[in-house]
Formats: sequence, structure tokens, C-alpha cells
Amino acid sequence: MTPSLISPPLPISPHLSNSPLKLGVMASGSGSNMEAIARAIADGQLNANIQTIIYNNPDAGVVARANRLGIPAVLLNHREFESREALDLKIIQTLKQYQVEWVIMAGWMRRVTQVLIDAFPRRILNIHPSLLPSFPGVRAVEQALAAGVKFSGCTVHFVELEVDSGPIVIQAVVPVLPDDTPKTLQARIQVQEHRIFPAAISLAAAQADPEIQTC
Ligand code: GRF
Repeated sequence: MTPSLISPPLPISPHLSNSPLKLGVMASGSGSNMEAIARAIADGQLNANIQTIIYNNPDAGVVARANRLGIPAVLLNHREFESREALDLKIIQTLKQYQVEWVIMAGWMRRVTQVLIDAFPRRILNIHPSLLPSFPGVRAVEQALAAGVKFSGCTVHFVELEVDSGPIVIQAVVPVLPDDTPKTLQARIQVQEHRIFPAAISLAAAQADPEIQTC
């Protein structure tokens, strides 16, 4: 069975509001999901704009992608904050400064607090490389391999205080092959992440705003 058979085309078209969604992306890593979202915007599949990218790790690959795409990137190094709440307050201030309406956690590897969640009620999405509620937390791909599951995948969900919890927006499924390593399974999952994340943003926005039409 191929991944495309397991995860058929998404029955979602872009939301039809005239005003683009104002996204703020939070990322700690390579930023491939951020770029997939930017590509969906450029291709006209997602009516949105990435207002800013916040990253917490000075070496994060997302910075080079942001520079190439001309998106302002702001470093908020968690090591320089005395508490999680202090970091979240600065994140909120930065997101508001860029008029962000939807917060997109695309590989953000820090726990967030209720302070951030309350600032963007039901407007924060996260992507996780497993079929939640299975395998939350770190090393989700390794957890799936260790459990011997035959299928895994990825989940876009609304963010709540408990890590990798919250209502699910979209999932995609991939097979786990007998000779898979964390690297090969992760790569198969990432293909699906890049597919579902833009669609999930569109769907979540359409559900949040009844004025927005989907078909
Ligand atoms: C993704 O696999 C995502 O599921 C996890 O972090 C990874 C980020 O990858 N939360 P990238 O930085 O978008 O390439």
C-alpha cells in the first residue's frame, strides 16, 4: 500500500474570505513545515500571509529559509528568559506587534503556558509526527517504531496546555515498513505534514469564522 492510497486528496479548498489570514509561525528546527505553508500561500492554495517567524534556537535552519523567503524572523532565545511565562509574554508581544491572528507551531520544541494559550484562544495550531493521541511528546517517531505499529502519521491539532493534546483538525496516515529507521519513517511522515498543515490552517479558519466558505 502506498502513502497516497492511505491518505487520499484532502477535500478542502482554500477559505474564500477576502482578507488573508495573518499567521505567526513558531519554529525551533529546519522550518520545512513553515516553507510548505509559504509555498501553499504562494501557490494560491492558502489565503494567508506569514507576518513573522519566531524561533528560539539561534542555529535553527528556519532562519535561512525565512531570509530566502523575505519573512521577518525574530529570535527569542528561551535561555534568556527566567520562566516559561516570561518567554510566552515576549512571544505574545512580538506576535501582536506583527498583527498575528493565528499562531502556527511548526516544530516549536518548547512547552507553552496558559499565558500564550489565553492570548490566542482557539487560534494556535501545532503539528506532531504521530497519530495522536498515540505517542505524544518527544521522539514520537522512535516511540512508534518501538511500539511496532504498522501505521503512523501526523496530526494537526489545536493547542491546549497538556503537550500534544487538543482537538484534532486533520491527520494523515503512512505505513511503517519493515526496514524503517527513524530517519526513513520521519521522511515519509514529513511529506504528509507538508500536505496537511496548509489544509488544516484553512479548515480551522473556516470553522472559526462562519463567514468563510469552504466547498
Ligand atoms: C516536524 O516533524 C513536526 O511534526 C515536529 O517537528 C518537526 C519540525 O520539522 N513537531 P520542520 O522544522 O518543519 O522541518
